[in-house]
Amino acid sequence: MLKSGNPLHRYLLPTAVALLPLVGALAQSKKETPPRPPLGLPPVIWPNDNPYSKAKVELGRLLYFDKRLSSDNTVACASCHAPDKGFTDQAPVSTGIGGQKGGRSAPTVVNRAYSLFQFWDGRAASLEEQAKGPIANPIEMTNEKDGAAAHAAVVGKLRGIPGYVRLSQEAFGTSELTMDHVAKAIATFERTVLSGNSPFDRYQNGNQRAMTPSQVSGMKVFFGKAACDACHLGFNFTDGSYVNIGIGMDRPEPDLGRHNVTRVVEDRGAFKTPTLREIEHTAPYMHDGSFKTLEEVVEHYDKGGIKNPHLDQRLKPLRLTAEEKQDIVAFLRALSGEGWKMTPPRAFP
Ligand code: HEC
Ligand code: HEC
Repeated sequence: MLKSGNPLHRYLLPTAVALLPLVGALAQSKKETPPRPPLGLPPVIWPNDNPYSKAKVELGRLLYFDKRLSSDNTVACASCHAPDKGFTDQAPVSTGIGGQKGGRSAPTVVNRAYSLFQFWDGRAASLEEQAKGPIANPIEMTNEKDGAAAHAAVVGKLRGIPGYVRLSQEAFGTSELTMDHVAKAIATFERTVLSGNSPFDRYQNGNQRAMTPSQVSGMKVFFGKAACDACHLGFNFTDGSYVNIGIGMDRPEPDLGRHNVTRVVEDRGAFKTPTLREIEHTAPYMHDGSFKTLEEVVEHYDKGGIKNPHLDQRLKPLRLTAEEKQDIVAFLRALSGEGWKMTPPRAFP
């Protein structure tokens, strides 16, 4: 028995009590193993300050589909990045709150886990940072005057929903849901939206019959004569670079893309090289949605892009035959896989 005069009692016990929250925090941060990505994809690199957990994915999934993240409860992330549309909205430009049109096409959320920088111009440095953007964007999800007010309004709304308070407790060990928690949960969910195990991946893995003869020919043109892999390379078909291929540069006041972020002259009209996975599900194409079909995209490259002072040197007329063009398109359709298909939640907290 410890007596009050005992030094053990005097020091150890209070110390142990003081350490209790730390023990709790350690239990919270106990690493859970994320599901293995489908064939053809490497493991996702999870940020140290936002590791994978099942509870966070579940909270993030609900928030992602929940229209209450917008001021008037009409727009969710999924309104512009819908699973049944390859996680895009299949429109040239997006429609946000009050029917307002934005200036750019919604990119797919599929395989965003593999890129640090987000948006067509790379202006967000992480998925966490990105997720805060639309909630504060007056043409996407908010009617509030500024970003801080928009975030406060959404967080206030969520804190009033007991189901979200409980899920927040499970995911983050606190019922004090904040904007950071919202962003972390949504980003965690997004990092599980993957596309692999496509016919191309199975072919690469040794299954000679996984692609049609036309797709195999198209693959050879893609990596050979057309050199599409100068930019669309690696398992996610992008080197993460920002390149001017001329899109929109024939307009009177073109979107200058990456230039708005870097202010570097050479970046005028440069946009992110996007992944080509699930490309058959995400028409129309390019940052302004200016091409309706993959055939039009291939024609664009065959012509050598759209001439402008900052056109990337690697774009040259390709002189592809009609058959080579068809084969490239067939190959692009071999990049449709699995790991991302889902139905929206049936009920919300
Ligand atoms: C009104 C339509 C709309 C809504 C709502 C919307 N987005 Fe987007 N999203 C876009 C558009 C358009 C872009 C591209 C903007 C740009 O690059 O400047 C984009 C870009 C992104 C990107 C970057 C993708 C890439 O390839 O770089 C991610 C990730 C994303 N959105 C996730 C979300 C999440 C999460 C939400 C909800 C919090 C959300 N979006 C809400 C339209 C929308
Ligand atoms: C010099 C780099 C480069 C080369 C080479 C290149 N691309 Fe691209 N690709 C890009 C960039 C950058 C974009 C986005 C441009 C924009 O929206 O302004 C893009 C967009 C696309 C898109 C539309 C993606 C979407 O989500 O809207 C497709 C499809 C595509 N490329 C296929 C190809 C094919 C096929 C080839 C070979 C014939 C090729 N690319 C060669 C850089 C390149």
